[in-house]
Amino acid sequence: MTAPLIDPFARAITYLRVSVTDRCDFRCAYCMTEHMTFLPKAELLTLEELDRLASAFIRLGVEKLRITGGEPLVRKGIMTFFEAMSRHLATGALQELTLTTNGSQLRKYARDLAACGVKRINVSVDTLNDTKFATITRWGRLPQVLDGIEAAREAGLKVKINAVALKGFNEDELFTLTEWCARDHHDLTFIEVMPMGDMGEAHRLDQYWSLDDLRAQLATRYTITDLADRTGGPARYLCLNETGQRIGLITPLTHNFCESCNRVRLTCTGELYMCLGQEDMADLRAPLRASPDDAVVEHAIRAAIRHKPKGHDFDYSRQVVAGQTRRHMSHTGG
Ligand code: GTP
Ligand code: 5AD
Ligand code: SF4
Repeated sequence: MTAPLIDPFARAITYLRVSVTDRCDFRCAYCMTEHMTFLPKAELLTLEELDRLASAFIRLGVEKLRITGGEPLVRKGIMTFFEAMSRHLATGALQELTLTTNGSQLRKYARDLAACGVKRINVSVDTLNDTKFATITRWGRLPQVLDGIEAAREAGLKVKINAVALKGFNEDELFTLTEWCARDHHDLTFIEVMPMGDMGEAHRLDQYWSLDDLRAQLATRYTITDLADRTGGPARYLCLNETGQRIGLITPLTHNFCESCNRVRLTCTGELYMCLGQEDMADLRAPLRASPDDAVVEHAIRAAIRHKPKGHDFDYSRQVVAGQTRRHMSHTGG
């Protein structure tokens, strides 16, 4: 029997997020600068190498695999990778194969994703206003994303909408977003904005909208029941009794959830980040390429997990941004 991956704080690592590209067809203002420099293509692991690494994690007890980016669906040949990963669903080793996407390519890929055993996907939509959507994503267009979400629904995929809570930007759309998700039967999760990548400190503080406040605003219109539901991610869920819908809250700033962290992140160059909010990482590309024997890379994975930090240090409570990472969110895919 292979021993499971347990970190120094007795947390079992069962969730792997794989960022298959750092590129994206959008430039969301809280995620990237407008003129990002992306990795040269030659630096990327091949899809076969990503398969070897993801499969090693699955042998070591990972049960949930989320494909991220950048935008995962812009990586060339990405469906080959989903097809390859679906074999781990077939054996029962993997419980869930899924992705987080900006939705722009879903019309093209939703059916293929469903055919690979993907059941639910997370799509980022911060606003339902065309003009505001174009502003926040810089390069994105809302109708294309809404059409992608419709394609996902037609393909039988359950959709969860991710909205980053942004002060002065989507505060006025709290009920519009909520009602849209209720009508179309999407789960909805709000996320507190995290200080990743240098976007200017004043800007981050201006943007920050605490989910304690968002929840209080929801309570002015709905009766709220806290739910014990878990999806294996960091969200805590509540139910709006009047509509019966489920709302998730991801609160790295107001309610730290690191003690229940079960995940690590692999980048498209084979870096393993043990925490979204810390700089520590382990290189898995060298051990992967050093030997065709997977025992070498499994050993490197175990060694890395032994250095998983306790948690992030993001904090805005003293009116300055603390715990910021140099990396942009797109490097590790959230
Ligand atoms: P579910 O499977 O639906 O629960 O999804 P998920 O929340 O695991 O994944 P998703 O990609 O939708 O992530 C939503 C947000 O949560 C993103 O902004 C992530 O950056 C953030 N997030 C995910 N894991 C962590 C974490 O370990 N720490 C922090 N601080 N944020 C996280
Ligand atoms: N803080 C919080 N969430 C972010 N995302 C991107 N950048 C940030 C940030 N700085 C979100 C995206 C997507 C998910 C992967 O991460 O909107 O839903
Ligand atoms: Fe692209 Fe997602 Fe970053 Fe927006 S948040 S720029 S869609 S990776």
